[in-house]
Amino acid sequence: MGSPMPMRLPLVVLLLLGVVSLRVRAGKVATELVKPDFTASYLLFIDTYGVFLASTSGAFQAVVYNPASQQDRYYLAVLHAPSKTCVWVANRAVPITDRAAPLHLTARGISVEDPNGTVVWSTPPFGAPVAALRLDNSGNLALLDGRNATLWQSFDRPTDSIVSSQRLPVGGILTSAASDSDLSEGDYRLNVTAADAVLTWMGSLYWRLSNDVNSIKDHDGAVAYMAVNGTGLYLFAADGGVVIQVALPAAELRIVKLGYDGKLLVASFASANSSSTPMGGGFEVPSGGCDLPLSCGALGLCTPKGCTCPPLFAASHDSGCAPSNGSTVLSVSSCGDATGGRSFPVSYVSLGNGVTYYAIKFAPPALAGDNISSCQELCTSNCACLGYFYDDSSLSCYLVLHQLGSFINTNSTGGSDKLGYIKVQSSQAPSSSNSSSSNSTLIAILLPTIIAFVLIVVVSAVVITSWRKERRRAGRHPSRSRDLQLRRQRSPSDSAHLVREIVDDGDDIVIPGLPTRFTHDEIEDITNSFRIKIGAGGFGAVYKGELPDGSLVAVKKIQGVGMQGKREFCTEIAVIGNIHHINLVRLRGFCTEGQRRLLVYEYMNRGSLDRSLFRPTGPLLEWKERIDVAIGAARGLAYLHFGCDQRIIHCDVKPENILLADGGQVKIADFGLAKLLTPEQSGLFTTMRGTRGYLAPEWLSNAPITDRTDVYSFGMVLLELVRGRKNRSEHVSDVGGGEASDSSNGTTGSSSRAAKSDYFPLAALEGHEARRYAELADPRLQGRVVAEEVERVVKVALCCLHEDPHLRPSMAVVAGMLEGTMELWEPRVQSLGFLRLYGRGFTGPADGGGSGIKLNQMWSVGDRSGTTSLTTMSGWPSYMSSSQLSGPR
Ligand SMILES: *[C@@H]1O[C@H](CO)[C@@H](O)[C@H](O)[C@H]1NC(C)=O
Ligand SMILES: *[C@@H]1O[C@H](CO)[C@@H](O)[C@H](O)[C@H]1NC(C)=O
Ligand SMILES: *[C@@H]1O[C@H](CO)[C@@H](O)[C@H](O)[C@H]1NC(C)=O
Repeated sequence: MGSPMPMRLPLVVLLLLGVVSLRVRAGKVATELVKPDFTASYLLFIDTYGVFLASTSGAFQAVVYNPASQQDRYYLAVLHAPSKTCVWVANRAVPITDRAAPLHLTARGISVEDPNGTVVWSTPPFGAPVAALRLDNSGNLALLDGRNATLWQSFDRPTDSIVSSQRLPVGGILTSAASDSDLSEGDYRLNVTAADAVLTWMGSLYWRLSNDVNSIKDHDGAVAYMAVNGTGLYLFAADGGVVIQVALPAAELRIVKLGYDGKLLVASFASANSSSTPMGGGFEVPSGGCDLPLSCGALGLCTPKGCTCPPLFAASHDSGCAPSNGSTVLSVSSCGDATGGRSFPVSYVSLGNGVTYYAIKFAPPALAGDNISSCQELCTSNCACLGYFYDDSSLSCYLVLHQLGSFINTNSTGGSDKLGYIKVQSSQAPSSSNSSSSNSTLIAILLPTIIAFVLIVVVSAVVITSWRKERRRAGRHPSRSRDLQLRRQRSPSDSAHLVREIVDDGDDIVIPGLPTRFTHDEIEDITNSFRIKIGAGGFGAVYKGELPDGSLVAVKKIQGVGMQGKREFCTEIAVIGNIHHINLVRLRGFCTEGQRRLLVYEYMNRGSLDRSLFRPTGPLLEWKERIDVAIGAARGLAYLHFGCDQRIIHCDVKPENILLADGGQVKIADFGLAKLLTPEQSGLFTTMRGTRGYLAPEWLSNAPITDRTDVYSFGMVLLELVRGRKNRSEHVSDVGGGEASDSSNGTTGSSSRAAKSDYFPLAALEGHEARRYAELADPRLQGRVVAEEVERVVKVALCCLHEDPHLRPSMAVVAGMLEGTMELWEPRVQSLGFLRLYGRGFTGPADGGGSGIKLNQMWSVGDRSGTTSLTTMSGWPSYMSSSQLSGPR
C-alpha cells in the first residue's frame, strides 16, 4: 500500500495533462503518421472513442479499442472505420484493463501498459530507431525507420482478419475472437494449407474452400497464400497463378473475418471509405445453418426447424443436451485423472436415427471395412474418443475426438446410414443418500447392480449372438439403431421386431421392366466392400465393381434422395433401365434396401469428358475425337428427348456427365435421376451440384424448363470442346471497363477484345461476328483442326445458346447439323447479347462466378415461399443496375 504513491503521482499528472490535451486535441486525430514520443489511451482520446490515428482516406483507424463498450478490456487495434470492423488487434491475449492506461510510441517501438505500469504487449526490439508509426490506406499499421523502411507491420501478424492487399501465407492462421467483447483467442481457426483453406474447431474440420459450392479450382499446384481483391477470394500459387477462386461482385475493399461464432465472412465494400456493400456481395460460410460445430450447443441436434436434443437426451442447464438417464458424458479432461487413464467402465448412448456429425463429412474414417463392435472397441480404447459414428453401408468407423459439438439431423434429406453413439460413464445409483443407514445404502447400491449384472450377462449373450447373425445376413437397418446399452435389455420380442423389419426389407416389388435387383450384400461383393472409389458425382460416390460374369460396373451410391418410397424409386428405375441407346450409359441393376439406394451402371474406362478435355498434361483429345464426342453426346440427348415413351430432360448436361471408353464410345450419364429428387431438391440439385456454367437463363426466370434447357447446356459443352478449357477460365482479363452499354442491341461488340476476353462464349460470339473461327480452336491443337468443322461447331453452339429457348434448335437438329446431314443454322446475334453482359464480369447465371451465391439465395427464397418470389425476380442478379439490364431483356 505504500509503494503506489510515488507511481501514482506521474499518473495523476499524466491524467491531468491528458484532460488538458483532450481539450486541445478534441477531434484532432492524427492523419497517416504519428511520431515518437507519443502517448495514447482511451481516456486521452475519449471524444473519438479511442481513435488516435486515421489513414489519409479515412477508411482505417488506429484505436485504443473498447469493443462492445464493456469498460474493462481495451486493445490497440485497427478498425475499418465505416463498418466499425476490427481488422487487427495487438494485445488480444492481455487487454488493458483501465481506460487511462497508456500506450507509448517511442524510438524503441510501441508498448502497451496496464494500470500498474507493467508492459503487457510491445513490438520486438529493432536495429534502428523508430521514426514514425504509419497507418496506410490499405489498413496496414507499420513502424518506419528514418528512411521510411518498414521495421514492423500489422499485416505480417494477422489476428482474425485479412483485408484486400494483405496476404495470408501457407501455414498462416486466422484465429477467431472468443466473443464480441473479448478479443482473446477463441476456438475456431482458418488455416491455409498447401492445397486448400479450411476451417477447424478443436482440431476437426468443418469447412473446406475446395468443397464450397462457390469455389472453382483453376490449377493444380501448391498454394502459396490466400488473398482477396476486387474480384474475389483466391488461393494463389507462388508464381501468382490462381489455384482456387471464389468470384465475387466487384468491390474496392474486402475484409475476410473469422467470426467468434465460427463463420467466415467476406465483407465487401463498394469503396474503401464507405460502408455500402455491393448487392449480393456477401460471402459467408459454412452456409448451412447446421454446419457450424456448435450450431446447437454441445450434443444439441440441429434440424431444419431449429435446435432440439437427440431422442435419449434432454436439454441441460448449460446450453446443450445431456443424456436423460442421468449418465455423464465424458470429456477429455477426465483422461488425466488420478484414476489413471479412466479405469471405470464406459458405455454408449445412441443418438437415434438419421443423425450425423459435421466433422464426418471431412474426416477420413478411423477404420473401414470392419464391423460396429470394432468401431466401438476402438473408441473405448482411446481416452480422447468421446463417441463414434458407424456407417453401415460403407462399414466406415468415425471417431469423435477431443470435444463434442452439435449433431445434424439428416432425416429430412434421407439416405443416412450412420449410427452414432456417445461414450458415457453410467450414473451412480441414485439412492446414495446420506441420511439412510449405511446398510440400506449398501443394499440399495448393490442389489440393482447385481440384478443388472445378471441380466446383462444372460440377455446380452442371447441378443448379441442373434444380432450378429442377423447382421451378417442382412445389412443393418438404420431404424433399428438403439442405445447400445439396450443390447443387454433386449427381450425376445425385440429380436422378433428385428426379423420383421428384415422381412419388410426383402419385400418384392414387382414392376415390369425392372433391371436386375441386387441385395446390399451382393453389391458389397461386387464392389469388394466399396474398395475403389472412382468418382463423386452429383448424387453421391461412385465405386468400381465387377459382376460375377466378369463385366466391370460403376456402382453409384445415391445420396440425398428424399423421403421417396421404394415403389416410386423402382418405377423410375424401370424407366431408366428400359432406355437402351448406344450413347446412353446402361443401367445394369440396382439395389434398394432400407434407406439405401444404389445403381449399377456399365463401366466406362476413360472416365468423364472433363478429365480428357481439361487435363493440363497427358495426351490431348484430338479434333476428330472431339467431333465424335459432340455427335455421340448429341445423339444420346436427342434420344432422351424424343426416342423414349417418356420425354426425359437431363437437367445436368456438362462434361462430367459425358463418359468415354475405349473404342470411341461416348455415353451420357446420370439421366433420369433428376426425377428421383423432390422438386425442392431438384432446385438445389441444378443450382448447387456443379451445373454452374451450364445453366440456361430460364433457370433464373420463371420460364418453364424444357428440352431446350438441355440444349443450352450442350451449347456450352460444345464451346468447351472447341476451346479445350472451361468457358470461364483462369486468365481473367480486365473486363468490366468503362465501355458504353453496347449490349443493348448486341451488334456493336468490342471484337478487338475478343481474344483477350476470358469468357469464351463471348469470344466465340465475337469471333463469329468477325468470321474468324479458326482462332477459336484449342491452341494446344496447333492447327490440327478442320477449319470448316470449327466454324460449324461454333455456329451450332451459338444457336444452342440463344437466350430465347424457342430459337434454340432441338437436340435432334443439333445432332443433324453436327453430322452435316442437316442444313446449318445461322446464329442470331440479337439473342446472344446477354453473353456480353456475362463476359464483362457481371457474372450471370451461366457462369461459375458470384452468381452462384445469388442463384442459391434465389432458390432458397423461392423454396420457402413458393414460386411467387421467383416470378417477381427479373431473372437477373439484382446487383446489375437497370441500365445494365436494358439490353438482353
Ligand atoms: C474517400 O477516399 C477518397 C480518396 O481515396 C477521398 O477523395 C474521399 O473524399 C473520401 N471520402 C470520404 C467520405 O471520406
Ligand atoms: C517518408 O514518408 C513521408 C510521408 O509518406 C514523407 O513525407 C517523407 O519525406 C519520407 N521520408 C523519406 C526519408 O523518404
Ligand atoms: C484479383 O486477382 C485475380 C487473380 O490474380 C486477377 O485476375 C484479378 O484481376 C484481380 N482483381 C483485381 C480487381 O485486381
